[in-house]
This record gives sequence, C-alpha cells and structure tokens, in this order.
Amino acid sequence: MNKTIAIRRVRPEARRAIPTDASKLGFGRYFSDHFFATEFDRQNGWHLTRIEPMRPLQIDAAAICLHYGQEVFEGLKAYRGKDDGIYLFRWQKNAERLRNSCRRLMMETVDEEFFGRAVKTLVLLEQEWIPRAPSSSLYIRPTVIATDPFLGVRPGDEYAFYIIVGPAGPYYPEGFNPVRIWVSSEDVRAVRGGLGEAKTAANYAHSLCAQHKAKSLGYTQVLWLDAIEHRWVEEVGTMNIFFVINDEVITPPLAGTILPGVTRDSVLTICRHWGMKVSERAISIDEVFEQASSGALTEAFGTGTAAVISPVGVLSYKGKEVVIGRNQTGPLANRLHDYLTRLQHGEEEDLFGWVERIDKLDIDQLAVWNG
Ligand SMILES: Cc1ncc(COP(=O)(O)O)c(C=O)c1O
Repeated sequence: MNKTIAIRRVRPEARRAIPTDASKLGFGRYFSDHFFATEFDRQNGWHLTRIEPMRPLQIDAAAICLHYGQEVFEGLKAYRGKDDGIYLFRWQKNAERLRNSCRRLMMETVDEEFFGRAVKTLVLLEQEWIPRAPSSSLYIRPTVIATDPFLGVRPGDEYAFYIIVGPAGPYYPEGFNPVRIWVSSEDVRAVRGGLGEAKTAANYAHSLCAQHKAKSLGYTQVLWLDAIEHRWVEEVGTMNIFFVINDEVITPPLAGTILPGVTRDSVLTICRHWGMKVSERAISIDEVFEQASSGALTEAFGTGTAAVISPVGVLSYKGKEVVIGRNQTGPLANRLHDYLTRLQHGEEEDLFGWVERIDKLDIDQLAVWNG
C-alpha cells in the first residue's frame, strides 16, 4: 500500500476553538479540525485516501456496520514532551491489534505502514491540539467499518478506515487516585471462542448494563469474571487488571476473552526488567478477597492507554467490600505511572524501543491542497 494522503485543510474561519483549560478536558469530548479517511472496495483496494475537515460521515442507512456490527477500533495517544517533541508510544502494537480485530470480524485489514503513516500525518497536521498539561495528551481513535448497503449477514465488501483525534485529560474524574470497582457476579463480558480479545463495539455495548449497575451503586467500573465458572478474574471495563500479592505481580493470562492491552504488555515487560516476580496466571475472585483480607494483597491497579495506571482502592463482590492498600495509591502503581508517563513523553531512556519522536519526520506525501 503506497497511498498518497491528499490533505484539504479547514477554512480558517471554520476552525474550532482549542480548549485552553486542561483541567476541564475530560476524555472523549473534544475533537480536532480534521480527520483521516480512506475507503476500500474489491476493485480499487484502499483508495480515496485523504485528510479533510471534520464532518459527519456519509454512509448508507443500510450500511452493514450499522446493522450487523462489523466495526473495530483502536485507542492510542500522542504526547507533547517538555522538550516540545511529539511522541507516539508502541503504535505498531495498535496496528497489529487492529489487524487482529479486523480478521476476527472478517473485515478488510490495514497494513502497519499505512496505519503508521495515517496516524503520524494526522497528528502532525493537528499538533496544535496536543495539550501540554501533565496527564493530558492527544487521544487517537482509528476505526474500521463495513459500509456496503446490504441487509443480510455476510462480511462486507466495502470498508472505511478513518481516524479522529482530540485532546484528552485524565480518564477518570478521580485522576490518579484509587477507584472503586464493582465485581459483576451475573453479567459476563466474553466467553472463550467469543469476541473478547477483539476491540469491537459489541463488547462495549454489551458492557453498558453492568456498568450502569456499578455506577448506580457508587462504583466507577466493573470487574468482569469468566463466563463459565463466574470465578476467574478477567479485566475491568476499559483496563486490564493487576494484583500484587506477597511482592508477586499477577495478571490474568491472555486466553481469548480479554483485550491484549498494550499497557498490560508494557507493565509486564517493565516489571520483569525491574527484577520483580511476574505471573500471568488465572486468579479467582475468592483468592483476591482472601489475600486482600489477610493483608497479603497489597496493591491492585488497572492498566490502559486512557487511564495509564489506575489504582483500585475498593472491590465489591456480592455485597461485600474489601479495601486494598488502605485505599491509597501503592508504591508499584506510583512507580509504574511515573515511569510510563515519563517514557511516553520522551523523558526516559527508551530501553525497549517503544517511543517514536515524530515531529522530526519528513512526511513527503503531504500533498496539501487547501480549499
Ligand atoms: C476492554 C479493555 N481492556 C483493556 C484495555 C487496555 O488496553 P490498552 O492498554 O491497549 O489501552 C482497554 C483499552 O483499550 C479495553 O477497552
């Protein structure tokens, strides 16, 4: 795929106001002036590759994605360093996961080079939108949808791949403070052989009921258990989950039901590098409660691009609550949060080859036309 990206810039008078108060950014509320889009059909492959002013998409009311859920997406961030550099973190992992999600849903894939060029070009064009305040970044949302107008259950022949970006602050109103998590004992997220490891809308639509229950009981997110025994810990709404028990760092294994998080993989690698004992193993909710009550479980935290590291202060399961680490952010969560955010902002030595500074790139395909 060697597709030139045609760029049509927004007219100056139509530019949106860039939010200036980083404390009010929240997450997923603001979008920049432009979006990237390209289209696929069997005859032309990916074509009509462009960046253009943000606007509502035009798709047929019969488009397959709207009726049968052929939709997959990704989430990554661009960071502004203190040195004014623009950094991406492990974007190749997001490209890989998007390909895997596409394959799982029988959708046309996007190759890594094309994905990277699209992300970098859009981020560079929208660089003024990257906030500079701590804990803020430009959130990047690549999406693939099946667009052919057809009613009937079969894979689409036509697709759109598009990317929107917008400035984001902390994902949780709590910021980097412990969150309260509700363990779902009835609703389940995914079963082996299902869609759990794909990043697709259905998984999130499906989670809304349990999320609503959690919220109405005063909790921030749902912790899912496995769908067969209702016993084994899986993941949190938009995060993978880690526990520290007797200095061992434990997270559930990738067995097809949870999202293979980029942050999860990074945390595992960093903890191993720090010489810690790390286990990817099944852990039951009973063990979590027992170890937390005995004091052996000293920390729990979620990991994800949006929240980075999110300490868990309270777990509630079947009406019983357990407090973890005196409801304070633990030392490992603190250390990881600090290290990861510094790494992502280009302030740490890039030991693992994860960070790419993109503002120095010469994007030669910037075939800009204004209009
Ligand atoms: C269900 C789910 N699990 C885990 C994660 C964390 O994944 P990552 O670290 O790649 O952001 C996310 C976030 O995308 C998610 O939606």
